[in-house]
Amino acid sequence: MRRITIRNRMKIIFIISMAVFLISLSLIQHYSNTIKQFNGIVSQTIAITQNLDDIEKNYFAFFIQDMLDIDTQVEVNNSLDDIKDRIQVIRNTSGYEEVISDEEIMALNEGIGIIKTNLSESMTNVHPNSHQVKQVLLDINALKAENLSIRESYITYIRSVNKKLSIMNTFVIYYCIAIIIVFMIMMNHSLLKPIEKFKRSLENRLDKNLISPPLIENYSNNELGDLFVKYNLFTQKLKIIDDINQKIYEQNSFEEVVDYIFETCVPFIPYNRIGIAVISSDGEMISAIRAKANYPLLLGKNYTELLSETSLKDVIESNKMRTINDLEAYLKLHPNSNSTKLIIDEGMKSSLTIPLVLDEKVIGVIFFSSKTRNAFNESHEYFVDSISKAIAISFEKSFVYNDLLLASVKGFANIVESKDHVTGNHIDRMSNYSRFVAECLYNDGIYPENVNDVFIDQVFSFSSLHDIGKVGISESILNKPGKLTDEEFEIMKEHTLIGDKVLTNMSSGTILKQNPYFEMAGNIARHHHERFDGTGYPDGLKGNDISLCARIVAVADVFDALTNERPYKPAFSFEKTMSILIEGSGQHFDPLIIDSLIKHENELYHLYKSFKE
Ligand code: C2E
Ligand code: SIN
Ligand code: SIN
Ligand code: FE
Repeated sequence: MRRITIRNRMKIIFIISMAVFLISLSLIQHYSNTIKQFNGIVSQTIAITQNLDDIEKNYFAFFIQDMLDIDTQVEVNNSLDDIKDRIQVIRNTSGYEEVISDEEIMALNEGIGIIKTNLSESMTNVHPNSHQVKQVLLDINALKAENLSIRESYITYIRSVNKKLSIMNTFVIYYCIAIIIVFMIMMNHSLLKPIEKFKRSLENRLDKNLISPPLIENYSNNELGDLFVKYNLFTQKLKIIDDINQKIYEQNSFEEVVDYIFETCVPFIPYNRIGIAVISSDGEMISAIRAKANYPLLLGKNYTELLSETSLKDVIESNKMRTINDLEAYLKLHPNSNSTKLIIDEGMKSSLTIPLVLDEKVIGVIFFSSKTRNAFNESHEYFVDSISKAIAISFEKSFVYNDLLLASVKGFANIVESKDHVTGNHIDRMSNYSRFVAECLYNDGIYPENVNDVFIDQVFSFSSLHDIGKVGISESILNKPGKLTDEEFEIMKEHTLIGDKVLTNMSSGTILKQNPYFEMAGNIARHHHERFDGTGYPDGLKGNDISLCARIVAVADVFDALTNERPYKPAFSFEKTMSILIEGSGQHFDPLIIDSLIKHENELYHLYKSFKE
């Protein structure tokens, strides 16, 4: 629909009505003038009749009295001149030709001339009853008749103009009424009704549904339509802020909050990527912990930098948001900013960085980045500012609480491990090997629907808890130098079920009731000894029925068991370990995982080496 604003409608209606009004007025003016002028002509013809009567009277008097009465002669002549003057006045009146042709007026003039001639002749040598005298009287009467017919013409004309004038007057009156009605309809249709609707919606909002009222249907393509669009945006913004708070209140994870923001905030801020980075507890380092984008990301969390070396230092110290609307120009000024390089490599052109603040302390930053140069303006800053507090709180709830929980569980895992005399820092190695396997899958694009940065983080956190169930296994079995008997091994198998129970109890016993965060931990503990061909324990699951995290941990667990000394076996070499893993591909292990690991064997070797030193 083509946009016609109320203001423009009013302008159009005003201009058209003014034009019509002015044209009508000038027509009325014109008709009035015509009537006035032609009334003047009619007066002249009346005067001419008067003069002709006078001439006639004087003419008779002339014969009755003295034939040579000079005064009478002068009076007749004066009357004749007067008539000539009046004819001139008529001719000088503009527009008379419309009614009477010049020839007819000239005929009048000529008639005067004839009378004059005949008159002077009859006055000198003619008897009152003579033929000439009669002729003069006939001439005068003919002239009278002509004058009368001229007058009649004017009067007829004046009547017709008068009729037009009265039509115009009626038209102007109805026209004014019509304009008023059109204006009223427009006011009602374009303004009053939408305003009424808006009012009802506001009332509804105030009385019932303060935060998420139904949006106002936008049916007006005018200024009010703009108002409703703005109002709807305002409502949506409020709703987003409320939803975020609600999600935090309902203990949704930080990931869910970030996902929600990523999916819902597009109408208010243009971005292709959201990244979150946090400052380490000693305040020295900053690490990217999350990134979401509407394009395939270079792994979103692959940078950790010394804070003092990044350009983020200013944002964090000043606690002020920063808008960079041309990242390439910015990089030229700050050539050492690795994070800037990273997002430019991903195709970003502008970014908005907002500090995340908790208890007046900056704990990290959130970035909104766009593939468009000059994407961000003040309104985007304000919007992000209004949700940054909630993001920080969500971060705190999710991470600080979960970290606390994880730290205590890990402490427990360490105690368990000291019972089981596996060598060195098994917990640390398990976390690193498991994450390594998950990252191999990420980089090779294997199981992309499961493997993302959150998954990798969780695998890192929870893999170390896989054997926590060994707390329930007697030390004599755990540390038996030789091979286990069948009964002993049956007991040993219990550690998977015990571990699942311990972790499930631990997480449900916290303030974070039903914490989904710990689901993966229980899963890993229960299923890390399942085998891909279905011959494992405790549930004998097969193939992809075994959850991916457990399949990953199974590989990492055996790799660590083989490369390290156990009470029942010596440490094997890296090469022997790899050949055992490859042999187990498809039977014990997920073949896709083993394939990916083979591809990254060199990197695995370096990791293995770093633990040997
Ligand atoms: P663990 O020592 O951490 O070993 C984990 C897994 O690594 C084992 O799971 C097994 O799949 C693999 N693994 C360990 N050593 C070897 C090996 O020499 N060759 C091969 N091919 N794979 C190996 P599994 O068998 O289910 O054992 C679970 C846990 O039971 C072990 O954890 C260990 O604590 C205990 N265990 C298993 N066998 C014996 C044993 O003969 N003597 C003793 N004392 N404990 C054992
Ligand atoms: C309008 O309806 O918005 C303009 C007034 C009219 O068309 O009557
Ligand atoms: C319309 O007729 O749909 C437009 C209403 C208005 O803009 O007043
Ligand atoms: Fe185990």
